[in-house]
Amino acid sequence: MDADWEALRAAARDAMSRAYAPYSGFPVGAAALVDDGRVVVGCNVENAAYGVALCAECGLISSLVAGGGGRLVAFTCVDARGATIMPCGRCRQLLWEHGGAALLVETPQGVVPMTDVLPQAFGPQDLDAVRDREEKP
Ligand code: THU
Repeated sequence: MDADWEALRAAARDAMSRAYAPYSGFPVGAAALVDDGRVVVGCNVENAAYGVALCAECGLISSLVAGGGGRLVAFTCVDARGATIMPCGRCRQLLWEHGGAALLVETPQGVVPMTDVLPQAFGPQDLDAVRDREEKP
């Protein structure tokens, strides 16, 4: 499924405009295309207890799962200027779980596969490898 990157960027900017980021002053919006054609979005939501802030990607993944799940196909996130930014390390892990190697990620240097953004990722297959071994008689 081909992504309309301009439409995704617009959805991310729209989500960014609703971010709750009074502490950092750094609103972020994220948007992704799902393999069934849905577009899911998220914005960062901060907290007076700074450490519990939710990144925009957290909201996006929550929306993906609560809306029926599916695999992420294309992802972008933007700052207050509407410029593309990289997802933080923790959020790359969140994206990996729901998009894997096939997920395309927009970066300031263009669109790249998720494997470029999170090489040698830890994922569900690593858990399976140990579980399979334990289940052997
Ligand atoms: N932030 C995100 O929402 N996503 C990222 O991938 C990078 C960082 C948010 C967290 C915090 O609310 C603000 O940006 C400043 O770090």
